[in-house]
Amino acid sequence: MEQRKIITTSERGLQEESLPFRLYQKAKKFGVWNPTDIDFSQDVEHWAILPEEKKGEILRLISQFQAGEEAVTLDLLPLIMAIAKEGRLEEEMYLTTFLFEEAKHTEFFRLVLNAIGEKGDLSVHHTDTYKKIFYEILPETMNRLMTDQSPEAIAEASTVYNMFVEGVLAESGYYSFYRSLEAGGLMPGLLKGVGLLKRDESRHIGYGTFLLQRLICEHPHLYDQVSNRMNELLPLAFMLNREGFKGQEVNSSGATLEDSMQFTQKQFNARMEVLSRAKGRKIEEIYKLSESEVGVI
Ligand SMILES: [Fe+2]
Ligand SMILES: [Fe+2]
Repeated sequence: MEQRKIITTSERGLQEESLPFRLYQKAKKFGVWNPTDIDFSQDVEHWAILPEEKKGEILRLISQFQAGEEAVTLDLLPLIMAIAKEGRLEEEMYLTTFLFEEAKHTEFFRLVLNAIGEKGDLSVHHTDTYKKIFYEILPETMNRLMTDQSPEAIAEASTVYNMFVEGVLAESGYYSFYRSLEAGGLMPGLLKGVGLLKRDESRHIGYGTFLLQRLICEHPHLYDQVSNRMNELLPLAFMLNREGFKGQEVNSSGATLEDSMQFTQKQFNARMEVLSRAKGRKIEEIYKLSESEVGVI
């Protein structure tokens, strides 16, 4: 029988300077905001007088985020298990905060919906492309880790979850929230929560960036796998944007489809650029990466 090796009583101790441990420290400080502390009273007032078309756009965004946060909450566990099985203690310690934060994000959007009285079935806002990503690709990719914990499977999971869903889709979604609400000072409770969860997400994406850089450094052939997968997924992000505009070029907030497409492409390029830096890096350098180098705010 294989015997456990205890890490924290060995000379190694905890790698307090490593990026995952620093992210863990950051999460204990910034990831503890409480969705129930947010005041939605003004949001309720605004919701009652917003034009129907604008309400429809915001509700579509909220319902996609609500389902997305639920999906990432339910689907993360196999990755945590795979990392724990490899004995990567600092990474697992960080991941305990990751799952907690996703649960809070799920709670947050439900609180918004409850406050504004939208309690019906919102799955009508889940378009075919949305369903393809969140009902199929994400759960299938993450559940694969229950039986296959190869570096290829872990890299695939992090590509879909951290780089694409969090790093491209969610970032594009925050942009849409700000673009339609910020200038008019609308729905301040909703925007406050979005700002807080955007900060949490920057750590999630930062961890994913670290994980993929580590995997690429340990197994250089994975760079092509990750890069090919990202290129396969990108058209789905464009299609989601297009479906959100319902055949129009400009929405009720004056935002253009062209601008959304450009923002999505910019996010995609930023992820790919950071990952490409993993090639030729030494493993010690990856553990020493700064928070800003992986985009943590
Ligand atoms: Fe989240
Ligand atoms: Fe996340």
